Amino acid sequence: DSPKPLAGRHVLITAGPTHEPIDPVRYIANRSSGKQGYALATAARDAGARVTLVSGPVALEPPRGVEIIRVETAREMKAAVSAALPADIAIMAAAVADWHVTNQGAEKIKKQADGSFPALQFEENPDIARFVGTHPDKRPKLVVGFAAETQDLEANAARKLTKKGVDWIIANDVSPQTGIMGGDHNMIKIIRSDSIEAWQDMSKQDVASRLIARLSEALEESIEI
Ligand code: C5P
Repeated sequence: DSPKPLAGRHVLITAGPTHEPIDPVRYIANRSSGKQGYALATAARDAGARVTLVSGPVALEPPRGVEIIRVETAREMKAAVSAALPADIAIMAAAVADWHVTNQGAEKIKKQADGSFPALQFEENPDIARFVGTHPDKRPKLVVGFAAETQDLEANAARKLTKKGVDWIIANDVSPQTGIMGGDHNMIKIIRSDSIEAWQDMSKQDVASRLIARLSEALEESIEI
């Protein structure tokens, strides 16, 4: 057997949505099945890595042989990611909610008799990708973010590279007609500061194994330098 490309490496992956409570029975969240992140965790494991998968609430079985840390909110996800560092590669595939509700109800909020609506107040969540990408002493050698967009895909993705301090952005069009959201296939573009590479439509498993192979090569190169 030839040695596995990620043997001895630690790969940290976030996946799934976060749930931000409104009251004990309600929450806000992004749509995310977690399928692409879980497929990446499986592919990284198969490449020989030690894998930590920090996962929001999803309906998927965790891959065997992967350390899974289950979280609900973005703030919990950030704490779990922080505790899991250092890592050689970080892949931020989670669909993190941008905000949490600051005036959460301690009890289920009741419908108002006068027909008025509860006013929710929001505060911005921590940007976990940015936290990892700009970490002063534990920045992984490769940090990969995702950009799920429904318009201006490449421009929005390129902005995220600098804003979050990540090396690669995996951009995908999640417009409803693509069937990508919640589906089993994905069509991605790899956006780096100096190049854009568009991949064919393929299964999320194939995206995962090819991306892990590309990341293994890039890690080798970065270590040789
Ligand atoms: O800014 P936007 O949510 O579009 O960026 C998407 C990328 O940033 C994804 O890699 C996502 O996992 C990550 N992200 C994060 N923490 C946030 C928001 C996004 O890690 N609060």
